Amino acid sequence: MFQQIERRPPDPILGLSAAYKKDSNPNKIDLGVGVYKDESGNTPVVSAIKKAEQLLWNSEDSKSYIAQAGPEGFLSETALMILGKDSASLSDKRACSVLAPGGSGALRVIAEFVSKNFPNTKTWVSSPTWANHVPLLSSAGLVLQEYPYYNYETHEIQFEQMMDTLKQAGKGDLVLLHGCCHNPCGGDLSQEQWQAVAEAAEKQGFTPFIDLAYQGLGDGLEEDVSGLRLLAERLPELLIASSCSKNFGLYRERTGAVTLVGETAEQVSASQSQILSTARQIYSMPPSHGAALVEIVLRDAQLKTEWLNELTEMRDRINGLRRELVSKLKEAGVDADFSFIEREKGMFSFLGLSVEQVQKLISDYSVYLVNSSRINVAGINKANIDYLVDAIARVL
Ligand code: LMR
Repeated sequence: MFQQIERRPPDPILGLSAAYKKDSNPNKIDLGVGVYKDESGNTPVVSAIKKAEQLLWNSEDSKSYIAQAGPEGFLSETALMILGKDSASLSDKRACSVLAPGGSGALRVIAEFVSKNFPNTKTWVSSPTWANHVPLLSSAGLVLQEYPYYNYETHEIQFEQMMDTLKQAGKGDLVLLHGCCHNPCGGDLSQEQWQAVAEAAEKQGFTPFIDLAYQGLGDGLEEDVSGLRLLAERLPELLIASSCSKNFGLYRERTGAVTLVGETAEQVSASQSQILSTARQIYSMPPSHGAALVEIVLRDAQLKTEWLNELTEMRDRINGLRRELVSKLKEAGVDADFSFIEREKGMFSFLGLSVEQVQKLISDYSVYLVNSSRINVAGINKANIDYLVDAIARVL
């Protein structure tokens, strides 16, 4: 049987990590996969999470299955963190969350739920979008269409073209939006632009589907969901896939959630039952470890403060690196204007290089980045920034 199987090329993002690991150049730099790194290039366990693990180790007395929707405390804290304490949908019980195996698991469950219950739905995705969005969502049966989002020349959001294209999104369609820290371009919507999306959704009847993978890594935990909350206030329905991989550093624990906002408590609870049945068909029961840790951290005032401080540290480091990279490229006399990197948010920005230039960075300088020239800014540090700037200047 397996004789007929053809080898697939490596994943465009994950394949970079394997190539980086094999490279023996002592100056190599990994700007590929979107994982936070500290000044020494490590991805440490967040200290509040480490402490929560100790508490969990002391108190956990069974490895039996947890509730299929996930632990109550994790679900309510997650919904609160996303929708906010003043959320009408929360007080009216028109919102609910379900634990999922990571943000990708949440995306997949939503995609399966939608394609099963609404087979004629079109899902609009930004161009560009996370490289795995298209395979992940379309293989679950969603029919995808692109809307323009980023202008590679001006490094700005093409908002007029985006809204113009989205005029075709009608009742029953989904529009996938990045809640904050757009992956891969780092360009986020302004509050006025979120407002315009809300108006269009109200008028045309489409439902926003929000991928929230980086809450807290852009401007702040609350600030990063101000657009999402504006939609939740104005619109009857929202679908949200959130992740604890980056903000809690729980990558390998696969911790995320599906959050639904609906018109009535009854509709939301019926939809939750469908989401649970979908999850049962795919992976049956959710993983519990990461969700238990998030619950402990968010319910313990001291641990929560410690985590918020660590999150601020990560965000400030990324924003500081963005400023430093721009100023060092300028100092190096590089002609191109890279100031857009300072305005963009989160882990990613495009350098604006061609595939040939990217390949040269990899082969001649051991600087690893995605072919689109997306860099993970968090992979830069004081020890490698000068080498990186020099390599960029040379390939340019
Ligand atoms: C990325 O875009 O690099 C991250 O979201 C990690 C991944 O799985 O692709």
